[in-house]
Amino acid sequence: MTTRGGGWTLVASVHENNAHGKCTVGDRWSSQQGSSPLYPEGDGNWANNNIFGSAVGSTSDDYKNPGYYDLQAGDLSVWHVPNRAPLRKWRDLAILRYHTETGFLSSEAEFTAGFVQFRVFNNEKAPMALCSGLKVTGCNTEHHCIGGGGFFPEGNPRQCGDFPAFDWNGYGTHQSWSTSREMIGSSVLLFYR
Ligand code: G3P
Ligand code: CA
Ligand code: CA
Ligand code: CA
Repeated sequence: MTTRGGGWTLVASVHENNAHGKCTVGDRWSSQQGSSPLYPEGDGNWANNNIFGSAVGSTSDDYKNPGYYDLQAGDLSVWHVPNRAPLRKWRDLAILRYHTETGFLSSEAEFTAGFVQFRVFNNEKAPMALCSGLKVTGCNTEHHCIGGGGFFPEGNPRQCGDFPAFDWNGYGTHQSWSTSREMIGSSVLLFYR
């Protein structure tokens, strides 16, 4: 797991159990409730914390483990393996195997979760006070860190404030550089002990 970029961790499989069943039982990665404008989100499993299936059953049914939402991934590898293939033959039987190498998943985010960081600068040398719950890996820190001084050069004065550029791509849109509405609308309470 430590040589040549490290090993890969299987986190999910998408399996079509009945191509004639249109959003029916087993269509966990879309909807099991029928194709309906009243249920546009479907089962929501691409973006929730639900888990299902088993690793060895990945070619016989859908699979999703906690790594899907817990791991801090940089790259994505995908295998297309014929249904019912046993685990020991996945590699040889796969009709396609490919993966990314640019680390695009982590560079999109520009931070690593699970840290607290103080006194950072951004690309334009504007200082910020606190990056809570993360450490930055890029220099657009104005989207992740709070508090700072009184001058933020980029787009002046758009970034100047306690939550500097949390609304860069619209207030609470959770798109591109903007945080969610929950995040920008929540006070950050600091405790000592
Ligand atoms: O902090 C993001 C900014 O430096 C670039 O924004 O709007 O060019 O994607 P934009
Ligand atoms: Ca189906
Ligand atoms: Ca399925
Ligand atoms: Ca920036």
